Amino acid sequence: MSKAEALSAAIILAAGEGTRMRSAKPKVLHELAGRTFLNRVMDAVDKLGPDILSLVVRYQGERVAEAARSYNQRVTIVDQDDIPGTGRAVQCALNALKDKLGHHGTVLITASDMPLLDERTLKGLMDFHRSQADGATVLTTMLKDPTGYGRIIRDQDGQVLRIVEQKDATGTELAVKEVNTSVYVFDLEVLNGAIAGLNDRNVQGEFYLTDALEAARSAGRVGAYAAPDPLSVEGVNDRVQLAHLAKAHNRRVCERWMRQGVTILDPESTWIEDDVMIGRDATILPGCFLHGATSIAEEAVIGPNTTLIDARIGRAARVERSRVQESTIGAEVNIGPWTYLRPGNDLAAGSKAGAFVEMKKASIGEQSKVPHLSYIGDTCIGQGSNVGGGTITANYDGVHKNRTEIGGGVHVGAGNLFVAPVSVGDNVTTGAGSVIRHEVPDDAMVYSENSQHMVEHWRPAWERGDESPSER
Ligand code: UD1
Ligand code: MG
Repeated sequence: MSKAEALSAAIILAAGEGTRMRSAKPKVLHELAGRTFLNRVMDAVDKLGPDILSLVVRYQGERVAEAARSYNQRVTIVDQDDIPGTGRAVQCALNALKDKLGHHGTVLITASDMPLLDERTLKGLMDFHRSQADGATVLTTMLKDPTGYGRIIRDQDGQVLRIVEQKDATGTELAVKEVNTSVYVFDLEVLNGAIAGLNDRNVQGEFYLTDALEAARSAGRVGAYAAPDPLSVEGVNDRVQLAHLAKAHNRRVCERWMRQGVTILDPESTWIEDDVMIGRDATILPGCFLHGATSIAEEAVIGPNTTLIDARIGRAARVERSRVQESTIGAEVNIGPWTYLRPGNDLAAGSKAGAFVEMKKASIGEQSKVPHLSYIGDTCIGQGSNVGGGTITANYDGVHKNRTEIGGGVHVGAGNLFVAPVSVGDNVTTGAGSVIRHEVPDDAMVYSENSQHMVEHWRPAWERGDESPSER
């Protein structure tokens, strides 16, 4: 890109309260598919490589600014004053940036409540703007139901005249289906001229950025570029729109994976975030939520009703009705049903964490099995061991978390309690109900006595007539 074509600045508008979200948090910090609107829009805009990446804030300004800075340190924060409106936001930005900006260049302006805005759409807009040599270009789309959006009003020759907001529009204007997406490219000189003369004489009493287009028109032509993908420019003003957009986006993500060879039984109840990776011939059963950097290898079967958060699932593994977080699951491992893997587990190939098993920071060796009703935390188990049902690692002494080490080829009897820190060697067998408090060497058999007491011919008190059953 030559200097003349470079993007001098991008101005992202994020000062609005987002009243219609009825939320304690600013609209831009709401999420779609696991990422905030703010981060999504910043990513799309930053990919164009603007010299200045700026963000206008006001409502909970410090909170929004902090979120933006921690996501992308390149961002320049601009404060909007108490005067409301998208036009005012741009006035504040131009004023704050005027020394850095100079007088010539190209400026991109975008709202921040369009979470699916992407690089392709923005590049298309920039290329169109340059090819037309207009003073300003607005990104538009056609909507079956344009309610709420500003309408694009054109003259008889099809040239853009102005934008009229829903609340200010006449009946004929309301019938227009072509809408403003709130993304614009301006030549800086045209923008400086157009933005100066805004007023708040409209139904909302705000300084509308949309009015700058009419002003820009007197300084040259205003172009309109239709977004190739309507979803990429859909704005979110309330939670109904958010749910609608999230659903439409998710349907696309599911379709993309199905086209790449993943079986998704019910895309309507399957939610897959953008960064998830899924191998060929994997199967996702209904009711699954696949979050963050989750990866699923070929032929794995996930679900039904499973949540994976930053989980790595190996080839042909099976995870049923479970929650797996920040854990690595090897090939052909069996998880579930009803298994809860908290962060930090590593289950090697062919191992198992069965029904009602909870694990945390557990390393389970190849072919080792924890089949039923157990808690295994801060524990390492070697290869080919089996842990009897109802076994607990008591890893917490009230102050520290302590480790349990169990070797390979170990048979842990049912209902064992490992009081950590403790270690058990290879090929050990432990008796049912043992409480293991001390180190056990390789090849040993260990059990702890818990004596059995017996009262013969015993009858409960109420049967003996001492007490009625209702008093028990
Ligand atoms: C705006 C447009 C409308 C367009 C629609 C597309 C105006 C006047 N209207 O309406 O033509 O069809 O977007 O979604 O521009 N903001 C500020 N400061 C403010 C007010 C808003 O920075 O004082 C920011 C908001 O944080 C938001 C963006 O500007 O990111 C748009 O504001 P919003 O209130 O959502 O405008 P819409 O009513 O959607
Ligand atoms: Mg909006």
